[in-house]
Amino acid sequence: MSVLNGKKILLGVSGGIAAYKTASLVRLFIKAGAHVQVIMTPASKDFVTPLTLSTLSKNPVHSNFFSQDDEDAVWTNHVELGLWADLMIVAPATANTLSKMATGNCDNLLIACYLSAKCPVYYAPAMDLDMYKHPSTLSSFAALKQFGNVMIPAESGELASGLSGEGRMAEPENIVAFLEADLESKLPLKGKKILITAGPTYEAIDPVRFIGNHSSGKMGFDIAHQAASLGAQVILVSGPTHYKAKNSFVKVVDVISAQDMYDACHLYFNDVDVAIAAAAVADYRPKVVALQKIKKASGDFSIELEKTKDILASLGAIKKNQFLIGFALETENEIENAKLKIQKKNLDLIVLNSLQDEGAGFKKETNKVTFIDHNFKVEPMELKSKESVAVDILNKVILHFSKP
Ligand code: CTP
Repeated sequence: MSVLNGKKILLGVSGGIAAYKTASLVRLFIKAGAHVQVIMTPASKDFVTPLTLSTLSKNPVHSNFFSQDDEDAVWTNHVELGLWADLMIVAPATANTLSKMATGNCDNLLIACYLSAKCPVYYAPAMDLDMYKHPSTLSSFAALKQFGNVMIPAESGELASGLSGEGRMAEPENIVAFLEADLESKLPLKGKKILITAGPTYEAIDPVRFIGNHSSGKMGFDIAHQAASLGAQVILVSGPTHYKAKNSFVKVVDVISAQDMYDACHLYFNDVDVAIAAAAVADYRPKVVALQKIKKASGDFSIELEKTKDILASLGAIKKNQFLIGFALETENEIENAKLKIQKKNLDLIVLNSLQDEGAGFKKETNKVTFIDHNFKVEPMELKSKESVAVDILNKVILHFSKP
């Protein structure tokens, strides 16, 4: 999945011949799963039509401060457009537009949006080779660099003037590849490996029956997807569930029993930076698994159970630098019990679920959790979707790695 998936991209098109290539650029952004809005300078409309770009971007194209279609003029809110965007890219960026960006010469909507944008800004210059090397252009590049804007360098080749050299706007495919690589390298969990457990475990009684629980696996899968979209490489050890990984950076290891989950976790644990135990692991399993289906008999029937291994505690016992997060599901003395689990399992953080909280627990879309860290700092959170709880958990991970 592209890192551009779901991103809101504001594309500013200025007036150079390369503007015709923005049709392909918009198509590639849409194909990558991005949402695109286009702002055109008046001059760019001589090279590509607003209709082309609005059709491809599936959004109206903006180019005036006021809409002139109606008797009542409608103001185009450049501040809102600037704030809407996750990233802005000016392509092609002509010498004229670059100079206006560098000096704040706000005589069109594109520059107004640029000055309002709070998101990362990229620009792909396009001009003739002598213009590209002119000290004036170079001083625009230097100013934009100082503002934190990122240049997607022009390529060499035949130019509209007939001359050959540096100045051609980067090809749309190369612009997309540049953006993807740059955004990926800046993801907060880039380079981190995270082990996550999810779902229930099934403990066999005989070949057709098992002891299980109601865990859907949603919380663990949500954490896995969020971690992958933040750049982490994820190993998701999951008990039986219908959820599937949506991101190629999530490697799912399917397991059935608590012992399988234990083995899989120990296979990967030494190599990870973080482990998050979101699985609802069975605490007991039948002592003997019948090889054949157990037949009904006349009297009562009982199964002797034995303890399974506590996976999380076993990881806590061998952890080196790993940041270890556990869950605690409690029905009474929640905070005290969770604190005991932090100590017993040698955790850095525990995510406490209380079944007394409305909206929390198994088979729900929402969760209400309380974070408790190893210093016993207690932080109750609001009732949220499980996706948002996943974001909160990973923010704790990011915070941990951002500490000096
Ligand atoms: N856990 C585990 N292996 C087990 C049992 C639990 O890894 N055999 C993990 C869970 O994934 C969770 C944490 O331990 O992150 C706490 O699980 P919970 O069921 O709340 O607590 P238990 O340790 O099983 O204790 P109890 O059931 O007595 O509350």
